[in-house]
Amino acid sequence: MSNIPHENQPGHVVIIMDGNGRWAKRRGLPRIAGHKAGIDSLRKIVQQCVRREIPALTVYAFSSENWKRPENEVNLLLKLFISSLEREIRNLHDNNVRLGFIGDCTAFPELLQNSISSAHELTRNNTGLMFNVAINYGGRWDITEAVRKIVIDIYTGKISIDDISEETLGSRICLSELPSPDLFIRTGGEMRVSNFLLWQIAYTELYFCDSLWPDFDETEFEKALRWYAGRERRFGSISEQVNHAGRN
Ligand code: IPE
Ligand code: IPE
Ligand code: MG
Repeated sequence: MSNIPHENQPGHVVIIMDGNGRWAKRRGLPRIAGHKAGIDSLRKIVQQCVRREIPALTVYAFSSENWKRPENEVNLLLKLFISSLEREIRNLHDNNVRLGFIGDCTAFPELLQNSISSAHELTRNNTGLMFNVAINYGGRWDITEAVRKIVIDIYTGKISIDDISEETLGSRICLSELPSPDLFIRTGGEMRVSNFLLWQIAYTELYFCDSLWPDFDETEFEKALRWYAGRERRFGSISEQVNHAGRN
């Protein structure tokens, strides 16, 4: 583990774990073998976040658009989510990890919904890494849901139209209880955000790499963290206004 000063680490990392299918195809394996290998990568990255005391990690596991995939792949993915959750939950709990889920889980089979609620319940009082998994998640869905909640609150008299501000929406969107993502990583070579956390990444540093997700290991993650540590985050101000203390 390289010595990136703690204050230069991101507080919240979000990852689009892309490239499982291509990883499998290159080995002449079925796509699901790539998804299985992707779970091994994820386990290592979660461990590294725990060791580095990164407060929050959010990963994209299944997008609202991924239902378009062949039925067989979708079914195998759902089975993999259930078996992985069952296998990993003890270890996550022992590592003081708090597990959260974002996305419309109502679309999933009851068995998966039950595993999700019990994993959430079991780990809710943990105080270590906040680890969120986005399943059946879409950034547009997230914004639409927040708007729906605002409309309900207006109809029921909780707020008035004049109260609407960025904060009104920001507090009703997924992950509102966490600081905004600092570092966004997408593996697999594509330079797009694929409907992930559209509202939340307004000022996030974007890191794209060619490694396919099953090949994304501790060294690759360190590379991304070092890249992030070298960023100057200006949030609209100019370089001279930014406090450089402790950077680089
Ligand atoms: C990401 O890998 C995992 C999911 C979307 C579930 P892909 O399955 O998209 O892998 P590629 O992009 O086809 O290689
Ligand atoms: C994004 O990957 C979704 C996840 C990693 C879960 P995709 O492979 O589905 O993205 P697109 O469709 O190629 O943009
Ligand atoms: Mg893909």
